Amino acid sequence: MADVVLEHLRKKFGDLEAVKDLTLKVEDGRFVCFLGPSGCGKTTTLRMIVGLEKQDRGDIYVGGKLVNDLNPSERDIAMVFQFYAMYPGATVRENLAFPLEQQKLPNEEIRRRVKETAEVLRIDSLLDKVATKLTSGEKQRVAIGRAIIRRPQVYLMDEPLSNLDAGLRAVMRVELKRLQHELKQTMIYVTHDQLEGMTMADKIAVMNEGSVLQYDTPETIYRRPKNLFVAGFVGTPTMNMIGCSLVRSDEDLSLDFAGFKIGLPPNVAKYLTENLSTSELTLGIRPQDIGISEVKTTYDSVEASVDVRELVGDRIIVDARVDGITLQVESDRRLSVEVGQKVWLSIDRERMHIFETKGGTLIV
Ligand SMILES: Nc1ncnc2c1ncn2[C@@H]1O[C@H](COP(=O)(O)OP(=O)(O)OP(=O)(O)O)[C@@H](O)[C@H]1O
Ligand SMILES: [Mg+2]
Repeated sequence: MADVVLEHLRKKFGDLEAVKDLTLKVEDGRFVCFLGPSGCGKTTTLRMIVGLEKQDRGDIYVGGKLVNDLNPSERDIAMVFQFYAMYPGATVRENLAFPLEQQKLPNEEIRRRVKETAEVLRIDSLLDKVATKLTSGEKQRVAIGRAIIRRPQVYLMDEPLSNLDAGLRAVMRVELKRLQHELKQTMIYVTHDQLEGMTMADKIAVMNEGSVLQYDTPETIYRRPKNLFVAGFVGTPTMNMIGCSLVRSDEDLSLDFAGFKIGLPPNVAKYLTENLSTSELTLGIRPQDIGISEVKTTYDSVEASVDVRELVGDRIIVDARVDGITLQVESDRRLSVEVGQKVWLSIDRERMHIFETKGGTLIV
């Protein structure tokens, strides 16, 4: 078991800075997700950790040991790729045994570990099947098996579920989480699917353009995103982002937009007055944090009209238009509204996020 420490990692490909000064610690036994859009440097970072790519600058420590100059085979790290690597003509048993045979382990030990690994991954009934005859879900399990059978200190997984269908992905998410829990080993898991990150990880590193923007628990990333990018990347439906302005009347400060006038609590007003360098603000509010009702429920509810209504399982998602702005609102399906109907919206003040529009930093 081992922690992984990355210090000021940089990697350039020609003029492109794929990874920019990345510093991060993955604690021993934790499941950490690197989450970010295509091209943000996730794979490059993993390849540097495992030793397939050499960083231009910075240090990598595994279990306290500097591994910068070690070959991949000396780092005791296993990597599982998006496309399962295995010997198609060989059986599952042979595929699992191969990494151990390379290590020249005694036959008895190999037999025992193949059995154990197959049980953990629930592929024991497939051991004598030829790899080409497996379904894609089974193949992915075998590929994961080939990585874990060596019992390395650290596992790196690069979008291992992305070519499975939605149903199987959901099953494998649960299985992988269970597996990591059982093995209690350090895992770094790369994905651009925020749901995968949110459901599996102990901690998530949200990346964009070669940098980590926030590194925290899924709960904190969701509840307290540090900037507009993180706020918009995590959560479905996407957080509503509304340009708004601060309006002062007498002693009070309020946020005004599209008919809403949201009075700010005194401590927030004080903070904004003292710290604000700009008046251009973006209000972020999740669709789950906007109340919707057929009648006016609070004094500051605002009237809106329903543009679109969509049923998603037991939830209903409404696109409500107020004064030229569309807000997405999520409610439970008991809400009976029709397209074109008038509704009343209210915003949960405790759940508002106020960002500086320029730069995107969270203010409150
Ligand atoms: N060997 C290479 N030569 C040149 N450019 C590269 C190389 N590898 C990666 N890049 C570039 O570096 C950037 C980061 O790539 P990387 O593969 O790390 O992204 P990623 O976050 O894994 O994306 P994805 O989600 O699409 O897999 C991209 O712009 C990519 O085109
Ligand atoms: Mg990648």
